Amino acid sequence: MRTKYCGKIRIIHLNKIVKLCGWVHKIRNFGQFIFVDMRDYTGLIQVIFELKNNIVFKKALNLRNEFCIQITGTVQKREEKNKNFKISTGEIEILASVLNILNTSQALPLNYTNNNHDDSRLKYRYLDLRSFNILDNLKIRNKITYLIRNFMMKKNFLDIETPILTKSTPEGARDYLVPSRNHPGKFYALPQSPQLFKQILMIAGIDRYYQIVKCFRDEDLRSDRQPEFTQIDIEVSFMNAKKIRNLVEKLIKKLWSKIVNFNFKKFPEMSFHESMKKYGTDKPDLRNPIEIIDISNICKDQKFIFFFNLNTTKNNRIALLCIPQGADLSRKKIDIYTQYVKKFNSKRLFYIKIIENYIGCKSVYSPMKQILDETTLRKIIEKSKAKNGDILFLVADEEHIVNKSLGMLRLKLGSDLDITQKNSWKPVWIVDFPMFSKDIKGNISSVHHPFTAIKKMDIKKLKSSPNTAISDSYDLVINGYEIGGGSVRINDVNIQKTVFDIIGIKKSIQNKKFGFLIEALKYGAPPHAGIALGLDRIVMLLTHSENIRDVIAFPKTTSATCLMTDSPSTINNVLLQELGIKILKNRY
Ligand code: AMO
Repeated sequence: MRTKYCGKIRIIHLNKIVKLCGWVHKIRNFGQFIFVDMRDYTGLIQVIFELKNNIVFKKALNLRNEFCIQITGTVQKREEKNKNFKISTGEIEILASVLNILNTSQALPLNYTNNNHDDSRLKYRYLDLRSFNILDNLKIRNKITYLIRNFMMKKNFLDIETPILTKSTPEGARDYLVPSRNHPGKFYALPQSPQLFKQILMIAGIDRYYQIVKCFRDEDLRSDRQPEFTQIDIEVSFMNAKKIRNLVEKLIKKLWSKIVNFNFKKFPEMSFHESMKKYGTDKPDLRNPIEIIDISNICKDQKFIFFFNLNTTKNNRIALLCIPQGADLSRKKIDIYTQYVKKFNSKRLFYIKIIENYIGCKSVYSPMKQILDETTLRKIIEKSKAKNGDILFLVADEEHIVNKSLGMLRLKLGSDLDITQKNSWKPVWIVDFPMFSKDIKGNISSVHHPFTAIKKMDIKKLKSSPNTAISDSYDLVINGYEIGGGSVRINDVNIQKTVFDIIGIKKSIQNKKFGFLIEALKYGAPPHAGIALGLDRIVMLLTHSENIRDVIAFPKTTSATCLMTDSPSTINNVLLQELGIKILKNRY
């Protein structure tokens, strides 16, 4: 139906007759001429209908935005004053000789050239996808997956598909369940990741596996999370953690160099412990140079415990952020930040403004001045390296509250005060995660997943003090986004069972849920390790998108619905009966 694509025509095609197919993007009628910006997925081109050519001109008068059309015409040079260097076809235009209206279009329910309210963008996703922004993201995504496949192929990885109808793999979220018609009362779980299958593939002797695979997690959504998302899933036998990290680093370097022309140096490594202390999170955004400074030792006197109203039976922390040139911040702004940290359960946000050029109590302005003696203040200023004109923001509370509050405040201030270097790339490997964590009720769970190996030197701690044991795991973080996580795996059946015991999975449940893994580990399971990278998050970063939805063709809303297809939806009673399922109406 066509000889060329709209966005591909250039000055070299001058005087050629071309046939194009696409949509009416914009129409301007100047009486003697009608100008139409015609669009296909390669771009825009200007088409002119002249009154001189009366038959075509009359037809063109019927055109409306988004009509689907086919035109034949001659490529001609635009007059100098009409050239548009914003588009790749801006030097030329097509003088139309034939127009076929292939289909009409109703007025659109959204203007996809603007940023519409999300709901209409998602309901009419096919119209939203006509916008070049999302389309360009999908093209970049396509290039990224091509580069990944190419890289993995060259490294001798086998692309192997694993089941979607499967059994639960604990990755920390709820499962999406699929009822079985043949086995009433039984359910498949959609995979949260192919974790166990890839380990089984290693036991099967596959050696190098990878897959670009859909994963499903029923969890609270946010701007970098979708209920179904895509992982670049990798597993290798006989390779240690360092080697896996090197391999992944090479892949990431290749993507960044090919897509955004940026060449990374070696990725730094930081322990989980250091990351929590300095940034209050295990996914630090290192584009922001501000660090959390611990002053617990400086403020350990009884008077501080009393002043900060600390509960001494808890694990407390007193820490601060030093914001260069922040002393100018108004009361109103400081109040906003105080409200902000309250969201993370902080009782209060204290501040100290350093306003004079010498160090001493008279030189600061602070609502906590009453308990700040000269020596303490000097120590705080020395430790924080605060200078004249800076502000210190201080939180004293339970350690996890201080970490979360100051970690989040650091990000907010970084963005509000332009401290974060927005146009830079800061990767970091976070390593040495604890094996286990305890919740407020005292329940122990794995920090990564329960198949994660313990560091060799900590193996004895597994029985004696599991809470202090460090795992052989790693996360890759870029600009504050966790883009990948992995570990060396347990390949010893007894250690695997001990880990299940520690996290409180009863023996009978161990066999019911993970019997196949426990059995497989008995048959010469090789040492193996792996990682999964979040493809959507990588594309998000490389396209500079703010929301993961902008890199997925058919994303879900924050409440995990698809507005276009209206799913999830109810099913009829006959189907429910076949599945042996009864809906409890009063639950909702
Ligand atoms: P993990 O749970 O860390 O590890 O997931 C790996 C990576 O997947 C991405 N990711 C997500 N992306 C979008 N939406 C989500 N809901 C979502 N959840 C996770 C993140 C994350 O770093 N089986 C292990 C990997 C392994 O040990 O090999 C796993 O799935 O970028």
